[in-house]
Amino acid sequence: MSFQQIFGKLSETQAIAPGRVNLLGEHTDYNDGFVLPTAIPQHTTVQLSFSDDGEHHFYSENLQERVSILESHHTPSGFASYIFGCIEVLNKAGYTIPSLNVYVQSSVPMGSGLSSSAALEVATLRAIRQLLDLPIDDVEIAQFAQQAEIHYAGVQCGIMDQMASSLADTQHILFLDTRTLERRVLPFPNKTTIVVIDSGVPHTLATSGYNQRRAECEHAANLLGVKALRDIIDAKVTETLPEPFNRRARHVVTEDNRVLEVLQGVTPEHFGELMNASHASLRDDYEVSVPALDTLVEILQKTPGVFGARLTGAGFGGSCVALVALGEEKAIATQVLQQYNNAGYKGQILVPDVEVSDAA
Ligand code: GLA
Repeated sequence: MSFQQIFGKLSETQAIAPGRVNLLGEHTDYNDGFVLPTAIPQHTTVQLSFSDDGEHHFYSENLQERVSILESHHTPSGFASYIFGCIEVLNKAGYTIPSLNVYVQSSVPMGSGLSSSAALEVATLRAIRQLLDLPIDDVEIAQFAQQAEIHYAGVQCGIMDQMASSLADTQHILFLDTRTLERRVLPFPNKTTIVVIDSGVPHTLATSGYNQRRAECEHAANLLGVKALRDIIDAKVTETLPEPFNRRARHVVTEDNRVLEVLQGVTPEHFGELMNASHASLRDDYEVSVPALDTLVEILQKTPGVFGARLTGAGFGGSCVALVALGEEKAIATQVLQQYNNAGYKGQILVPDVEVSDAA
């Protein structure tokens, strides 16, 4: 159903924002560290108009679900919590947001670790900025989006996803220092591109496991007497910590160092090795992998034309990303998916995204 069919009039504005995949720098952003995401072709579209009855009305085309809330009402759940969160953080920042009709449609898969929530938040904030002509820039959009996620969706997330959705494009890798928000746009390593495959295992435990990892890192930083684990350069320092804080901290410190190594300029082979090392560290030290992700990564790593592969996003399920030889991505993705599904799983190729790139 279209905006007009749902709300009985045409929308006044619309905005889009992409999902993201992170190539390197996992579970570093809430430790003030470094990340290397890129945008994916899948995106979320938000259409808006003013609502005439003093209530917000949200509609999700994907879920075919409608939610209405009085402006003063408590936080809704599900997709509506992200939209309501965006409106509320803007209200709290001193912007007066009138009641709205909000229509959402998305090609970013949910539960695959590709930031469908950040895409929804950034698209919502962009659409509101446009509708009300608000003087907020793209970094502020990301910051408001992160606040919405933390306070209204209950995930103590860092700022990577929202910065990637707000500032990255599909043709480059975005280097981001999450402490200073300094960023650089990097090219992909020579003649490479990415493959992203969804493991088919949704990351259902993500919120509790994620918040627990974050608390463990904060504890480790306290024990080491630093503001955040980003302040530790030498991984040896983490050996003094008790279990499991030693391994959690070692992951973060070595992962930050892997991202910084990329900044020196690396070959595709070297970038791939760093991705493989990242996966091993997430699996063994950070313990956020699951057997399905390990199987998928192993198949990817053994496939000719693949430079390196790892789980991407928070883990506990979701997707894997691989750096592959440009031009071979479709053949590689198809071959890997077949092997993975033969092992008893039900994966899905997300990038290359044939549907989206063909339509573009
Ligand atoms: C989720 C969070 C991000 C980041 C990643 C892990 O996607 O939203 O802030 O912490 O997990 O790197």
